[in-house]
Amino acid sequence: MSRPAPAFLPRYSPSETRYDTMEYRRCGRSGLKLPAISLGLWHNFGGDTPHELKRALCRSAFDHGITHFDLANNYGPPPGSAETAFGDILATDFAGLRDELIISSKAGYKMWDGPYNEWGSRKYLIASCDASLKRMGLDYVDIFYSHRFDPETPLEETMGALDHIVRSGRALYAGISSYNAERTREAVAILRDMGTPCLIHQPSYNILNRWVERDGLLDTLDEVGVGSIAFTPLAQGMLTGKYLKGVPEGSRATQGKSLLPEFLTAENIKRLNGLNDIAQARGQTLAQMAIAWVLRGGRVTTALIGASKVSQIEDCVGAVANTDFTSDELAAIDALAVDDNMINLWSMSSEDV
Ligand SMILES: NC(=O)c1ccc[n+]([C@@H]2O[C@H](COP(=O)([O-])OP(=O)(O)OC[C@H]3O[C@@H](n4cnc5c(N)ncnc54)[C@H](OP(=O)(O)O)[C@@H]3O)[C@@H](O)[C@H]2O)c1
Repeated sequence: MSRPAPAFLPRYSPSETRYDTMEYRRCGRSGLKLPAISLGLWHNFGGDTPHELKRALCRSAFDHGITHFDLANNYGPPPGSAETAFGDILATDFAGLRDELIISSKAGYKMWDGPYNEWGSRKYLIASCDASLKRMGLDYVDIFYSHRFDPETPLEETMGALDHIVRSGRALYAGISSYNAERTREAVAILRDMGTPCLIHQPSYNILNRWVERDGLLDTLDEVGVGSIAFTPLAQGMLTGKYLKGVPEGSRATQGKSLLPEFLTAENIKRLNGLNDIAQARGQTLAQMAIAWVLRGGRVTTALIGASKVSQIEDCVGAVANTDFTSDELAAIDALAVDDNMINLWSMSSEDV
């Protein structure tokens, strides 16, 4: 699917007001603050998207105080191309801004041929981190993650690789993604013993996917002092105004990617309309309410959104203006929000014990 690219963009100078409205939240018990909203480059940053659109999305995010950009080795398509594109943006639009940016990458999913191409071995994680740095033209990333729990590799080896990546200066902080509460506790303890605290956990979490509550992960993170970055806070776009009347052409659900059209049943669309009514009564768009809901109460450090249009980023950052909910609003949301494990495509990692 081709998307119109903005006309050639002039030279970038970041907005002078970029730090005026965004909230910055401490990540667990660390010294690092993250913006309440972060931008992920999973979709819309591969070879199927015009480069000028990628530049426009990154510029808009930064202009609105989004200092954190989240990547992974395999983001594309093809895998690696999102990091290459972001490296280009770092060298052009974001040149001179490195100290204002938090850049993360991850390894865990299939990246190249052969037996050392995925999961959590030291061999794969360190090689992958080096390749990510090269693609982005960076000396270091701010956060490097184990992208998923590996049931076959000793956790000591995976955490040892993260410790090495931090000690060798390739990353400033270590993180884990889609680990369940029990494995998180173990991983955090191993890292702590090695002298490299776990900064952050990256789980999927949104109104329709509440495994982190069921599993006790959010309680565990509070207890061990680790921050969290909730990915797919919009359920890949379902929790926006986009699907209220069905599935529009060009949306992610029509692209044969990760948002399966079968998630958008008539019953789910009815629920989305109910949620939209609650959002409107709060004076928010559905996307803004969905992000605010993830951020409510301060347990989640930052909501990790994706975007295919600059206007979506402009809408989403408005969520920060109101992240408080009355108990009646929360109850009304709960009544419509059936926790749907089907949309949690990452449950294999957190269910592995
Ligand atoms: N750790 C992991 O295993 C993992 C897994 C998945 C994702 N992630 C991270 O999480 C990031 C976000 O994932 P995601 O893109 O699925 O998140 P999302 O924020 O739930 O969905 C983003 C999509 O929602 C739509 N959208 C966003 N804002 C909108 C608005 N204001 N109005 C209407 N539609 C809007 C767009 O869909 P359209 O494209 O249809 O316009 C956009 O592409 C990824 O980029 C990645 O960094 C991590």
